[in-house]
Amino acid sequence: MVKIPKHRELVLIALAALSAVFAQQPASDPAALARDSYARRCASCHGNDAAGTDRGPSLNASRRLRTRSHQEVRDIVRNGTPAGMPPFALPEAEMEAIVLFVRGMNASAFDLNPPGDAAAGERFFFGEGQVAIVTDSNLPVLAPDQEWLAFAN
Ligand code: HEC
Repeated sequence: MVKIPKHRELVLIALAALSAVFAQQPASDPAALARDSYARRCASCHGNDAAGTDRGPSLNASRRLRTRSHQEVRDIVRNGTPAGMPPFALPEAEMEAIVLFVRGMNASAFDLNPPGDAAAGERFFFGEGQVAIVTDSNLPVLAPDQEWLAFAN
């Protein structure tokens, strides 16, 4: 029989507990997911700062986007438009993250009312000029607008 010294046993238990904690985390932080997705898929046309380029309109503080619902923005990203927006078949988590990212640049928290189940993971609440990412711990993290836009950079 192998005799495991007591302290070694404790280390193993601690490691097992830690990996259990990490296993419960969502696969990816939605804010990081949105930033990464935007940079890779959207920035080339809509700009690093989402202010638009000659290939795509501004997605930031856009009067037109402010009138669009969550579902409408989803549909645009999923289906594209005849006027040059390509369709994106994104995994659900990435789709939600990018739609909230776009809507967060154009709406107040009151308008947004993002769908989703708090127990399932993080939820986003956006305010004009700031974003609060509410995690399971219910601790809102407020970031100034600049940091939010830095997402895209
Ligand atoms: C190849 C260039 C291109 C890429 C890449 C692109 N878009 Fe677009 N996008 C456009 C164009 C052009 C329009 C305007 C289409 C129209 O008016 O019908 C548009 C429109 C939109 C709109 C509607 C804007 C409005 O004012 O109604 C949204 C939302 C949007 N894009 C989001 C995204 C997101 C999110 C991504 C990345 C996942 C993305 N786009 C990637 C070119 C692009």
